[in-house]
Amino acid sequence: MQAVLSDIYLFLKSGHVIFMVFWMAGLFMLPRQCIYMLDHAPGSPGEAKWAVRMGKLRKIILTPSLAIVWVLGLSMAYGGEWFTAGWLHAKLTLVLAMTGYHGWLVGQTKKMARGERPLSEKTLRMIGEVPGLLLILIVLLVYLKPF
Ligand code: HEM
Repeated sequence: MQAVLSDIYLFLKSGHVIFMVFWMAGLFMLPRQCIYMLDHAPGSPGEAKWAVRMGKLRKIILTPSLAIVWVLGLSMAYGGEWFTAGWLHAKLTLVLAMTGYHGWLVGQTKKMARGERPLSEKTLRMIGEVPGLLLILIVLLVYLKPF
């Protein structure tokens, strides 16, 4: 199994980076969709329209990309024998934070679709920066492998 994974390593890495970009794109878009929904009153047709758009973003882009990034990342970690590497431990900690952020934000969008308004526009703009900050640290770790 490990020999097969190392044979197809560059395909795994290509897919990993492609779906990482899709995942990040979705995480950048979702807080902005929340901000646009804030312009519409609870129960209004405008709210319903944004709820449908968020649902599609979640089901078609976000959740499948998260799953594929994890599967391909762990496959590379196994095929490349990286599980004892400090940089991967640090990276996985940041990726778990990114995954937690994903789950929390999806939960907030479901509340908003039910007519709740748990987050202000200011908060949404601030938390919208979180994936970008994590992305910078994750990419530095994987290319520099400092430890
Ligand atoms: C979900 C859990 C993840 C695991 C287990 C994982 C693991 C790995 C491993 C083992 C490699 C190959 C390293 C090498 O060959 O030098 C890799 C490459 C990479 N990972 Fe991840 N990763 C994960 C998530 C992410 C995320 C969320 C990002 C960005 C936000 C990311 C960005 C990258 C990049 C850019 C590369 C390519 C590095 C290169 O070209 O050598 N990974 N990842």
